[in-house]
Amino acid sequence: MPGTIEEQTVEQLGGPSSVLARQRRDHAEMDRLMERYRALAEGEERERVLKEVVQLVFSHAFAEETVLWPAVRRSVTHGEELTSRVEEEHQQINDLVAGIERLSPGAPEREETVERVFALIRQDIRDEEDLVLPRLQEALDAAQLRRIGTAWESVRRTAPTHPHPIVPRRPPGNALLGVPLSLYDRIRDGLGPVLPSAVMKRLLTGLTGLLVSAAVAAIVRKRR
Ligand SMILES: [Fe+2]
Ligand SMILES: [Fe+2]
Repeated sequence: MPGTIEEQTVEQLGGPSSVLARQRRDHAEMDRLMERYRALAEGEERERVLKEVVQLVFSHAFAEETVLWPAVRRSVTHGEELTSRVEEEHQQINDLVAGIERLSPGAPEREETVERVFALIRQDIRDEEDLVLPRLQEALDAAQLRRIGTAWESVRRTAPTHPHPIVPRRPPGNALLGVPLSLYDRIRDGLGPVLPSAVMKRLLTGLTGLLVSAAVAAIVRKRR
């Protein structure tokens, strides 16, 4: 049975652009940010670090759900079981972070929820590095891991950066809804194009309506 990817060299993982190496780099960054949050006293800087954790975790997980887990289900024995487990963790993180974003900093239950989210993120990282990704490494060669790495990275760079309870965990619904939601999130984060807010609101409402209908139609068609 293949071992964890935690201790392997970048070469063993298929090179720096392999999806395994990219995953491990992001996981290390999540760990660093969570440690930094813990080391800081309550205040603006700590809130900024929490925002960075959320943005990184959500874009990372969205790209997993649209690119990586479908690849695992296609190529790994028991891929369905393995990916259901990490999707469940993502759903719990999604629900808890949505709760955090509704509470103001300093609210008593907020800190406790942040700790629960951090524990779930660490669990998700361990399940991926120790259970899911070694199986993918066993099933694919380095060139295939690099191709998936490139696809995963391009989705990650344009993915939503906040929780959205209406988004399903699997394609095609998540991929379709991800487009308007990513735009909406990135404008909220101050990373996207600057347009007058009334124009933006109309644009997003129209786009979201259109894509929700398309996603629902695609899901209905798939179930028939
Ligand atoms: Fe991951
Ligand atoms: Fe994950």
